[in-house]
Amino acid sequence: MSVGSVTDTDVQGVMPDSPQPFREIARTVTSASGDSGDAHSPEPLVDGFGRVVTNLRVSVTDRCNLRCRYCMPEEIQWTRRDEMLSFEEITRLASIFVHHLGITRIRLTGGEPTVRQDLPDLVSMLAELMQLPRRFEGSPGFAEDLRYAGSTGGLEDLSMTTNAIRLAKVAVSLKQSGLQRLNISLDTLDSGRFKQLTGRDRLQDVIDGIQAAADAGFSNIKLNTVVMRGVNDSEVGDIASFALERAIEPRFIEYMPLDGAGRWDVGQVVPAREILAAIAKRFPLASDTGDPPVASGNTPLPGTSGDRLLGPGSPALGTPDSVGARRSAPAHRYDLAGGQGSIGIIASVTEPFCAGCDRVRLTADGQLRTCLFALDEHDLKLLVREGSSDAEIAHAIRSAVATKWAGHQIGKPVFVRPRRSMVQIGG
Ligand code: GTP
Ligand code: 5AD
Ligand code: SF4
Repeated sequence: MSVGSVTDTDVQGVMPDSPQPFREIARTVTSASGDSGDAHSPEPLVDGFGRVVTNLRVSVTDRCNLRCRYCMPEEIQWTRRDEMLSFEEITRLASIFVHHLGITRIRLTGGEPTVRQDLPDLVSMLAELMQLPRRFEGSPGFAEDLRYAGSTGGLEDLSMTTNAIRLAKVAVSLKQSGLQRLNISLDTLDSGRFKQLTGRDRLQDVIDGIQAAADAGFSNIKLNTVVMRGVNDSEVGDIASFALERAIEPRFIEYMPLDGAGRWDVGQVVPAREILAAIAKRFPLASDTGDPPVASGNTPLPGTSGDRLLGPGSPALGTPDSVGARRSAPAHRYDLAGGQGSIGIIASVTEPFCAGCDRVRLTADGQLRTCLFALDEHDLKLLVREGSSDAEIAHAIRSAVATKWAGHQIGKPVFVRPRRSMVQIGG
C-alpha cells in the first residue's frame, strides 16, 4: 500500500478488510494508540493514503417520503426500528468522532432525514458537540480548552441534505435546534415529471419547503439536481434560474450507479462538461478563460472516447475555483458573470474527487462505511450495544479508516456495485 498518494492502480477493493473481527480490534486499544480518551488532543483520523478524514455523513433513517428511481429499489426492506441507532447512540458515536478523532463537519442524510420523528431533538444533541464536552467546564485548563475547541477540537459545521417535502413543517425548529446549513434535492420543475421520477405528486411541497427554509433564516442553501440523459437534462438552465432567483446555489450532479434497480447505464450520465455548456449558454461564466472545465486531466466518461466530452464546438468555458487542487469538496464551483451568483457541478463519474476524499459514513443501522461505494461495512452498533468504551470504539474506527481504498472505479471492469443503494447508504 502506498502511503500519502493515490494512484490509478489503487483500485476499489484492493485493500482487504482486516480478517480480525471488528470487536477484537476495538479491544486492542492501548494508551499508545492515541485513543485512550484524551479529548483535548485528538489525533487526526488518517487513512492509508494520508487523507485526513474530517467529514462524517450520518444517515438517520433509510425511509423516505419519495420513491426516486435513481436512489431506491422497487422492493425495499426497511430497517426495523430497533436495528436503527437511537439518538443517544448516534450522539455518542458523533461525540467520539468529534472529540477523539478530529471530525469537524457532520451532515445528516437519509433516506429522508426529516421523516425521522423528533429530528430537531437529534440536531440539538449534535449541536452540543460544537461546545466543549461538559466534563471540562470549570477545570483548570478550561480557557485553553475553549481556544482549542474554536480551532480544531470541536464540531464546526452541522448540515443536512433533504428533499424539502417536510421543511414547511420543521424548518423553524431545525434552525432553532442549531442546524446550520441545508442542501435540498430537486431534479425537475415539471410536476408531471416530478411524479414520474419520484412516484409522488409533491413538487409544490418541495417549493413550499424551499421557501420555508429561507423564511426560517437558512442562508447558503444549495439545490442538488441529479442530471439524467433524456430525463431532465433539458431543464438544467431552468433549474439554475429557479435557484439563482432565490439566492440559492444550484448544483448539478452526475448520475452514479447507486440506483435501486441496478439499471444505471453510462449512457444516462450527462458529463460535467455538457452540463456546464448548457449553463454557460444561459448564464455567462465570470472567468471565461477557454480552459476546459476540469482542466486537471479531464477524464473521458468511462466506456466512451474523450471526444464526446471535449468535442469540437464546445463553448469556451471557465475554470472552476478548485482546478488542480487536491480538493475534498465534491462540487466544482463556477462564478457567473455580472455577480449573478455561482453554480456547482459534482462530476462524481467523469472527474472523481476521491484523491482528496475527507469523508466517512454512518448508516442508519450503525454501520461505518469508509466510502460511498465500499463493499465492506464495520459494525459500530455492535460495539456501542456491547458496551465498548469510547477509546475502544475510536480505535476500531481508526483501524477501519486505515483500510479505506483509493476510490471508486465506476465504469472500469473492476467496479463492483455496493449491495445497498443510495437510500440505504445515505445520500
Ligand atoms: P457541502 O458540505 O455543502 O459541500 O455538501 P456535499 O456536497 O458534500 O453534500 P451533499 O449531500 O449536498 O452531496 C451532494 C451530492 O454529491 C450527493 O447527493 C452525491 O450525489 C454526491 N456525493 C456526496 N458525497 C459523495 C461522496 O463521498 N462520493 C461521491 N462519489 N459522491 C458524493
Ligand atoms: N447518483 C447521484 N446522486 C444520487 N443521489 C441519490 N441517488 C443518486 C445517484 N444514483 C443523491 C441525490 C439525492 C440525494 C439523497 O442523493 O441528490 O437527492
Ligand atoms: Fe470518497 Fe466518494 Fe470517492 Fe468513495 S467515491 S473515495 S466516498 S469521494
